[in-house]
Amino acid sequence: MQVLITLVLVLGFVSPSLCTRWNVVEANNNNNTYNVMQYGASGDGKSDDSQAFLMAWNSTCGVQGEATLVIPPKLSFLVNNLIFTGDCKATSITIQVVMIQYINNLTIDGHNTGKIDGYGSTWWECKSCPRPRAISIHSCNDLIFTNLRVTDSPGGHISINGCKNATFSHLFVDAPGTSPNTDGFDISASQNILIKNSVVSTGDDCVAVNGGSSYINVTRIVCGPGHGISIGSLGKGESYETVEEVHVYNCTFANTTNGARIKTFPGGSGYARNITFEQINLINVTYPIIIDQHYGVKDATESAVLVSDVTYRGFSGTAFRDIAIKLLCSSLGCSNIVLDDINIVSSQIGKRVGAFCQNLNGTIESTVPKVSC
Ligand SMILES: *[C@@H]1O[C@H](CO)[C@@H](O)[C@H](O)[C@H]1NC(C)=O
Ligand SMILES: *[C@@H]1O[C@H](CO)[C@@H](O)[C@H](O)[C@H]1NC(C)=O
Ligand SMILES: *[C@@H]1O[C@H](CO)[C@@H](O)[C@H](O)[C@H]1NC(C)=O
Ligand SMILES: *[C@@H]1O[C@H](CO)[C@@H](O)[C@H](O)[C@H]1NC(C)=O
Ligand SMILES: *[C@@H]1O[C@H](CO)[C@@H](O)[C@H](O)[C@H]1NC(C)=O
Ligand SMILES: *[C@@H]1O[C@H](CO)[C@@H](O)[C@H](O)[C@H]1NC(C)=O
Ligand SMILES: *[C@@H]1O[C@H](CO)[C@@H](O)[C@H](O)[C@H]1NC(C)=O
Ligand SMILES: *[C@@H]1O[C@H](CO)[C@@H](O)[C@H](O)[C@H]1NC(C)=O
Ligand SMILES: *[C@@H]1O[C@H](CO)[C@@H](O)[C@H](O)[C@H]1NC(C)=O
Ligand SMILES: *[C@@H]1O[C@H](CO)[C@@H](O)[C@H](O)[C@H]1NC(C)=O
Repeated sequence: MQVLITLVLVLGFVSPSLCTRWNVVEANNNNNTYNVMQYGASGDGKSDDSQAFLMAWNSTCGVQGEATLVIPPKLSFLVNNLIFTGDCKATSITIQVVMIQYINNLTIDGHNTGKIDGYGSTWWECKSCPRPRAISIHSCNDLIFTNLRVTDSPGGHISINGCKNATFSHLFVDAPGTSPNTDGFDISASQNILIKNSVVSTGDDCVAVNGGSSYINVTRIVCGPGHGISIGSLGKGESYETVEEVHVYNCTFANTTNGARIKTFPGGSGYARNITFEQINLINVTYPIIIDQHYGVKDATESAVLVSDVTYRGFSGTAFRDIAIKLLCSSLGCSNIVLDDINIVSSQIGKRVGAFCQNLNGTIESTVPKVSC
């Protein structure tokens, strides 16, 4: 018996109506702009719009110079097995802010000519605006996202929520180091996610792994400027959140404010466990290794997200501040924290770096600066 698998992709714009500057994007009216509606897409969420998308993509991809694929706002598009692929004649392709939901087996391959531009600069000054993300992926299975530049998102660049088995590779994610809350990758409620061979330079976390996530691998990422790779923050508003099996391997942090960070709010519950950070190259990182269980608040509380089975191995390079290793656990303590083969010196000539730790349990070997708890 043959089983028919329906592959559904719903693409739509984040509603721009809440902030005023959105018309910068909508006003785009040049000749190389291809709107899926002009290729017969219905946008009713029921008819199959795959052909329209493919034809619009072909036109976008096939034009010389710069091109823009427009997927209009506030409509739903049902498309099957959509693959945006090159090689494109266009030297630069812009897909305007995109939301991708309920998809199986989608491949987005920019062939290094693609660019998703969030046109975020006019949003950044408005901190109270609910700033959209350049790419929101919600509920996906078996996704491949590769060879693309994602730039200047109003908010976080790539949000991954409710996904299983997704690979992100050869991406260039960038926004100015001063742009607020422009995380590179935000992962939540997802399993088996691999992020590799990419450069992430933004104004916030390069990768943030949030609640409900497990089996997340991050490898060969160059991060900076930005806030490093973070687990959490977890437990906000006394919530129960869990993260486990996160493996960060062979990454470089350059000029970031943090390197490997775990942050939890007092009063929360749940756990962050089985986490490894290995083969990490540090260049002038403000706080290379940091666990902060007092995130956002100073008060001690009974409850905490439990941190256990965290390994830091093979860190080398320079730190900008005096405390290179800061392990600040709640009174419930962090268990089985392993530090091994760590060698961090100051990036400033003549200065020394130290370590600080509190309520901690584990194994410390071959670590410079010396950590004594
Ligand atoms: C398209 O290009 C032509 C020639 O450069 C120009 O006259 C025309 O105004 C352009 N149309 C739009 C919609 O920008
Ligand atoms: C898009 O173009 C490619 C090659 O240029 C062609 O093979 C394919 O059939 C086209 N697809 C559509 C939907 O026009
Ligand atoms: C994705 O495609 C593969 C191969 O065609 C298939 O085995 C798999 O079941 C599909 N995944 C989903 C979630 O439909
Ligand atoms: C994960 O996704 C990839 C790409 O779609 C697919 O080739 C692979 O079979 C999937 N793996 C599993 C275990 O489903
Ligand atoms: C993720 O990392 C772990 C630990 O290094 C490794 O065992 C596993 O094979 C990796 N998975 C993928 C998909 O890279
Ligand atoms: C780390 O990645 C680089 C490429 O970015 C590679 O040349 C090197 O061999 C890797 N090192 C380890 C220890 O895997
Ligand atoms: C770090 O920042 C300084 C000052 O902005 C800059 O000169 C240097 O090139 C940066 N280093 C790296 C590795 O990005
Ligand atoms: C988590 O780490 C602990 C301690 O290292 C280990 O015993 C356990 O097998 C790990 N769990 C998984 C699912 O790998
Ligand atoms: C190190 O980082 C600090 C703070 O981000 C910066 O002011 C300084 O220029 C950097 N130094 C180098 C050598 O990159
Ligand atoms: C430290 O480790 C011991 C033995 O492994 C364990 O019983 C204890 O609960 C741990 N303490 C903390 C604060 O994690």
